[in-house]
Amino acid sequence: MAHTLSAATARAVKTAITTKVSLDGLSIVFRRDGSAVEVLDRISLEVREGEFVCILGPSGCGKSTLLNIVAGFLQPSSGQAWIDGEAVRGPDPRRIFVFQERGVFPWLTVEGNIGFGLFKLSREEKAERIAHYVQLVGLEGFERAYPHELSGGMKQRLEVARAFAVNPDMLFLDEPFGSLDSITRLGMRKELLRIWELERKTILFVTHDIEEAVQLADRVVVLSSRPARIRRIVEIDIPHPRDISAPRYLELRDGIFEEIGLAHQV
Ligand SMILES: Nc1ncnc2c1ncn2[C@@H]1O[C@H](COP(=O)(O)OP(=O)(O)OP(=O)(O)O)[C@@H](O)[C@H]1O
Ligand SMILES: [Mg+2]
Repeated sequence: MAHTLSAATARAVKTAITTKVSLDGLSIVFRRDGSAVEVLDRISLEVREGEFVCILGPSGCGKSTLLNIVAGFLQPSSGQAWIDGEAVRGPDPRRIFVFQERGVFPWLTVEGNIGFGLFKLSREEKAERIAHYVQLVGLEGFERAYPHELSGGMKQRLEVARAFAVNPDMLFLDEPFGSLDSITRLGMRKELLRIWELERKTILFVTHDIEEAVQLADRVVVLSSRPARIRRIVEIDIPHPRDISAPRYLELRDGIFEEIGLAHQV
């Protein structure tokens, strides 16, 4: 009996530890000009601690809306988001949101931007933390530079450094590389993966780019067009670094292209 109880307890503890985010039937309806716009339709999902999940779906389906609900900026019409077993009631400074094209603070240097959220640390700790992230994203030599002196890719790296520097509990990224050229974007994906592999934060990453999702994620959540439902959840069982010409990669990628009704032909 005691044995059964302890096994059950162990299972409960394990579940509590490994489930980071739990979405339970999230729906949202916006009202506009007296009519209702249904945007999310009963989204349910569990995200494990340290998992990298990509939310993929066509433009306008409700990806940003979903991320905003999980991050606590928006209330769902029905359903509930849970993080660490607690109902999400509002934004939490332990969780960082990197917005699409939000950009860094133009009036602060690279150091100033990375150090912005670190007011609780001592001067030495802060300097150490800034140096660590400057180095991690390869901005050595640009510590005193202002954002207008950086390239688009460098600004994005700065944004990623700033998000990680506050040692967040989890990260929400809404198409963070959408405005970059394809070569810079590839570099940024690599950079993000490298930092994620070192620090293992739970990441919810929104994109409408299938290749990006399959390159990055542990799992890809494929949404339908509006109102967004979960069409399929695809486990990307390929270790990093991923060979984007490997048969398994192409199989998973093409499976998603087919799922959303597009054959992958160039
Ligand atoms: N506050 C709001 N009030 C009314 N409608 C809204 C509001 N926010 C979003 N919508 C509508 O919800 C739908 C989904 O918007 P959302 O920004 O979540 O899409 P998305 O999937 O992120 O698109 P994209 O890939 O283009 O960024 C759109 O039709 C949009 O007009
Ligand atoms: Mg969006």
